[in-house]
Amino acid sequence: MTSKENLEEKVDEERRCFLRRATATVGGVGLAASTLPFISYWLPSTETEASGNPVQVDLTPLQPTQQLTIVWRGRPIWVIRRTPEMLATLPKLNDDLRDPFSNEDQQPPYAKNLYRSIKPEFFVAVGICTHLGCIPTYRPDVGGVSPSWLGGFYCPCHGSLYDLAGRVYKGVPAPKNLEIPPYDYLSDNMIIVGVDQGQKT
Ligand code: FES
Repeated sequence: MTSKENLEEKVDEERRCFLRRATATVGGVGLAASTLPFISYWLPSTETEASGNPVQVDLTPLQPTQQLTIVWRGRPIWVIRRTPEMLATLPKLNDDLRDPFSNEDQQPPYAKNLYRSIKPEFFVAVGICTHLGCIPTYRPDVGGVSPSWLGGFYCPCHGSLYDLAGRVYKGVPAPKNLEIPPYDYLSDNMIIVGVDQGQKT
């Protein structure tokens, strides 16, 4: 097996591990949400997952700084509730980022803004590194990854870094910002992933 095949096998195994972890924690959203900043997982029904249909996500349990992960079309979709302090970090980072203004086609038009989201408070993104597809780790801890770290996502496979809007830093292997999936708000506390804003379901 070549080293490239070895690497791809490793990445596939990481994804399989993610789905096994997700399956093992179905139903744990309310429990995990009580402790910061635990990550919780929620899987749609087998029928919904198999069909690739849109998935509704209740934002009610999500406390500030927390991350919720669902699975849509076999991919982890993150929802993170960002605080005003977290949002305030974003304009400071432009010089350090590869695509600070989201010129690459990595988001729907309604998420092409500083926050890369419909509402600044809730960040919705595909949790897959744009280098070789590992699953980055949510690291909101200021100073946690480096002394100048303001929070974001760290990919453990080859060290790629993204800010709290999923914008990739310069000088890391990942070439692009994290992808933003199509989504819309059904109400203040309910989103639907897999449907573009304003699209009828
Ligand atoms: S997969 Fe290589 S840095 Fe994320």
